[in-house]
Amino acid sequence: MASGNNKPTEGTKATKPAVNLRKRTVPFFRSSKRSAGAAPIVMVTAYDAPSARVATEADVDMILVGDSVAMVVLGYDDTLQVTVEDIAYHTAAVARAKPTALIVGDMPWMSFHVSTTDTVVNAAELIRAGAGAVKLEGGVNRIPAIEAISAAEIPVVGHVGLTPQSTNVMGGFKIQGRRAAAVHRLIDEAKALEQAGCFALVIEGVPDVVGKLVTEALSIPTIGIGAGPATDGQVLVYHDLIGLENRFKPRFVRRYGTAFDDQVNALATYANDVRSGAFPTEAESYQAKPELLDALGLQGVTTGRPDDQPDSIGLYGSRPTESGGA
Ligand code: KIV
Repeated sequence: MASGNNKPTEGTKATKPAVNLRKRTVPFFRSSKRSAGAAPIVMVTAYDAPSARVATEADVDMILVGDSVAMVVLGYDDTLQVTVEDIAYHTAAVARAKPTALIVGDMPWMSFHVSTTDTVVNAAELIRAGAGAVKLEGGVNRIPAIEAISAAEIPVVGHVGLTPQSTNVMGGFKIQGRRAAAVHRLIDEAKALEQAGCFALVIEGVPDVVGKLVTEALSIPTIGIGAGPATDGQVLVYHDLIGLENRFKPRFVRRYGTAFDDQVNALATYANDVRSGAFPTEAESYQAKPELLDALGLQGVTTGRPDDQPDSIGLYGSRPTESGGA
């Protein structure tokens, strides 16, 4: 029944971490350099409340409500289609789960390529939706935006290297920092972003040595995706990590789950059970009380054990209520 596209789960099997109930905040990360003995920062994307709850249970440090939602959830071919309203909507869903991780709202394309006033208003919309910081892509051209957002007391994460919002300029999702001049430029840009006020920097899609050089050049932490093992943290897209996105697998993705195949199996088994009549059983149904059967003229019909039946479905941890419906 499985699609067969997913490789078996990779990675070292983790015992469930002891959940650190402490809310992660920006000051915790500002100087989280591995060179100073800090533990690597664990970041993952999430776009809804259930995945935010999973991230809390897994003791993740930062949740990025990434514009990757466009590709892995909304079915677009690139990230350019999502708006501030879209990211705010998903940020609010993540925030409702009250994750312990710092929530970083990703500023979508054209939300910070506008006036600095509009840029700050857009960043504020993500903060009001529940983010504790925002992330934006780009190098020195983005310094006025970073300064303006920082001046509004909004913490900013920079993003350099492969910046997917620049796909039309880069000619696709291309690895960056292949030539010495480009590497020097990248390091200079990273330093300028730190100077402008970023408290952390995502580096995407560069050779491992470039990830290392940028990390060594900064006093703020770097978070790599396809940037090798020397950065101060790592970020992966949730759906890549759990194997729900199974259409292609970039080299930097490690699949820690087989969610697509697991869900196909679950739904196919459900479909079989419905078609065969194996679902639902009596235990999965509500039974009428004898008085109701009498009133309906259905004496003799099997009712199960109506006295065990709650009057409410007791949704999601709420206690069944005593009073019944009509
Ligand atoms: O939107 C996103 O998921 C990102 C990560 C790839 C860093 O920006």
